[in-house]
Amino acid sequence: MANKSHFNSGHIAMNKLKKNGVSHSSHIESQLPEKTYHGLFTEDAVTFLKKLPDSSVQLILVDPPYNIDLAYWDTFENYLEWAKQWLDQIYRVLSDTGNCVIFGGFQYQDLKKGDLLEIMHYTRHHTDLRFTNLVIWYYKNGMSAHRFFANRHEEAIWLSKTNKYFFDLDSVRVPFDEATKELYKKDKRLIAENIDKGKNPTNVWEIGRLNGNSVERVGHPTQKPLELIRRFVKGLSYPGSLVLDFFAGSGTTGRVCIEESRNSILVDSDPQMLEYFKLHTKSMNGSFFSAEHCIKINPDLNEFLELVEEKEKIEA
Ligand SMILES: C[S@@+](CC[C@H](N)C(=O)[O-])C[C@H]1O[C@@H](n2cnc3c(N)ncnc32)[C@H](O)[C@@H]1O
Repeated sequence: MANKSHFNSGHIAMNKLKKNGVSHSSHIESQLPEKTYHGLFTEDAVTFLKKLPDSSVQLILVDPPYNIDLAYWDTFENYLEWAKQWLDQIYRVLSDTGNCVIFGGFQYQDLKKGDLLEIMHYTRHHTDLRFTNLVIWYYKNGMSAHRFFANRHEEAIWLSKTNKYFFDLDSVRVPFDEATKELYKKDKRLIAENIDKGKNPTNVWEIGRLNGNSVERVGHPTQKPLELIRRFVKGLSYPGSLVLDFFAGSGTTGRVCIEESRNSILVDSDPQMLEYFKLHTKSMNGSFFSAEHCIKINPDLNEFLELVEEKEKIEA
């Protein structure tokens, strides 16, 4: 029986393109770059953003302060008034195929100090950004609770600048296990090639949180798992493109960008970021990434952007 998706105009159009061997208008044919550049800036996010040229970034991926007094950088008189200043810059600096991911959570009960709900409301009603997906990061390890259901998820919103946003689903598909593959391949209605590609990871991702003795840990109190960041970087940007994280923390995004051959800009007001990032680079396994990389500490922004652009031109 037909379900709702059979009448979805987006689905119908995508299937038609596929059938005719035509790519969607957002498709970008990218080449693996020989070298990628990574600029680390110790600066306030808003001051930095105001200096960035229009349409210069493919992916903004940020994990902003939560306003729950986790650290000295995590307390605000008026969270939304502060957040508006960087939210207002995102649309401008994204390229037309650009995407933005903002991590966050929902504050329950009487906290109401500002959270992802307020960010979602603000971007919907006061910016031209399009709300593409809400991703639920589900983890099994967490705190216990007695007066409510113990929390086991954090959210990330995916916003895009236009409907030509870049999305490489194939790069983040989850393989079927062998038994399921065999079973599905017997089903004449399914296309064997698609079964081999794997399944859409859906918008609920089960990825373990980093615990105290995780090997990935470099010491930052709110460090995100590599696997979580990697899925966004691979799916929402392409090799050789520019990824920006202006609340970089330990620089997890930059590490993933080195490993996945993207250029990156990391900004954090805390100079400790540089030390955390050194530890990240020490534990990277150089044998599995294909492009060389060059790290610049507090470079001149325009010179850095020229380096990235120059590289893109040579490879185009
Ligand atoms: C939640 S942490 C990010 C952690 C990061 N995702 C990781 O995996 O390591 C937020 C970071 O934002 C930084 N920060 C807070 N206010 C800032 C501001 N105004 N400008 C730039 N960075 C800021 C903090 O120093 C902190 O490192």
